[in-house]
Amino acid sequence: MENLLLIANAVIILILLAMTWWYAHSTSSLLHRSQDQVAGIQRQAVAKIEELHASYTRILREIEERQQAEERLEESEARFAAFMRHLPGMAEMRDTNGRYLFVNETWEKIFARNPDDCRGKTLEEVWPPDFASRFMELDRRIIEDGHPLENIENLDQNGRTYSWLITRFPILNQENQAVMVGAIGIDITARRQAEEALKASEQKLRSLTAQLLSAQEIERKRLAAELHDELGHSLLTLKLRLESLEEQLQPQQVSLKKEVQKILRFISQTIGEVRRLYLDLIPGDLEDLGLTAALHSLIEDFIDLQKQISWEVEVDNLDGLFPLPIQTAIYRVVQEALTNIGKHAKPTQVALSISKDQDKVLFTIKDNGGGFDANKVFAQKKTLGLLSMEERVKILGGTFNLWSQKNQGTKISFSIPLSKEGYLL
Ligand SMILES: Nc1ncnc2c1ncn2[C@@H]1O[C@H](COP(=O)(O)OP(=O)(O)OP(=O)(O)O)[C@@H](O)[C@H]1O
Ligand SMILES: [Mg+2]
Repeated sequence: MENLLLIANAVIILILLAMTWWYAHSTSSLLHRSQDQVAGIQRQAVAKIEELHASYTRILREIEERQQAEERLEESEARFAAFMRHLPGMAEMRDTNGRYLFVNETWEKIFARNPDDCRGKTLEEVWPPDFASRFMELDRRIIEDGHPLENIENLDQNGRTYSWLITRFPILNQENQAVMVGAIGIDITARRQAEEALKASEQKLRSLTAQLLSAQEIERKRLAAELHDELGHSLLTLKLRLESLEEQLQPQQVSLKKEVQKILRFISQTIGEVRRLYLDLIPGDLEDLGLTAALHSLIEDFIDLQKQISWEVEVDNLDGLFPLPIQTAIYRVVQEALTNIGKHAKPTQVALSISKDQDKVLFTIKDNGGGFDANKVFAQKKTLGLLSMEERVKILGGTFNLWSQKNQGTKISFSIPLSKEGYLL
């Protein structure tokens, strides 16, 4: 019994031991499993924390970048504002519906308007209808064409009219579409006034030159008439008297006769020279035969004097195109060009062409002679020939061009308009 009890106790102990072992074993595997779960949770937590950290850093970076961008924007706006404040002209920006986005201080002063009164307002709200529709039309063209547009506007301010040179331009987005219209204007009133004053003084100077040149022509005519009527007549009388004296000489007065004949030859020569002098002074053929014949005769005289040169001449008929003072001026310019060739060029070829077109006559005189440095000659202001050629052409409302190069010859071309409005003579 005792044994049985012992055995039963032993069995119970064994059972208890087995249960304890099983319990311990299952508890330890449970522990193992929950440890794995904890580790998994830990890993997930770490991953989440890392993720959170990354997004936190990204957000921080983005905030920093945004701050930097805002700072850059502020700086750039400050720069833009400084530029606009100190811009000597006016500046404005509108959206594509003609709504003001920006105007600078100069704009504000010129139009005596507070920028806050225009910002956000349309052209129609700011300007009278005629102005507004003109500006809107300009904006429309700029937006459509995508090109800047420059024009001069006369604007009234404080009872005076000011001239503004205004450049309007499209402001494009990244797709190259116009999203705004910008405009910058510069006050050119003083410049325009100076230009007009200069023009007026040039005009005065030119009309003074015109008067001087016509006074010179009158004086030349008077001198030529005196040479012809007084000196020419006296020489002719002298010649006739000497001829009658010669006839009265006795045949034996041989040496006296020889002396008289010598004097007669000398007088004839002098008469010829006086004739040449007064013909030089007035283009004689001009009044009698007209410009074309006078020019032909002038050119032939030069050809006769310079037979070694090969001449190429083409002259259109100019008769009836110009009044006499203009014809004289044209004759003088051609005469001076040919005289210069004779005096300075030493060419082997000369080409002269006078051609008439619908509204002007074009003159070209070209030689292949020594040429010269035109800038130097004009700067020295020592000679009159070229200057008076240019002045004469300008007085006639024409254009004058001179090309010359050392050892390459000279080309003078000028045109005279057929309409009489430009003539100052
Ligand atoms: N066709 C030409 N070929 C070479 N040199 C020329 C020619 N035309 C003008 N020149 C040069 O230009 C200079 C200025 O010419 P311009 O006609 O003004 O004066 P000029 O003939 O010397 O004197 P003038 O005042 O009497 O006409 C000349 O001295 C000469 O050196
Ligand atoms: Mg000359």
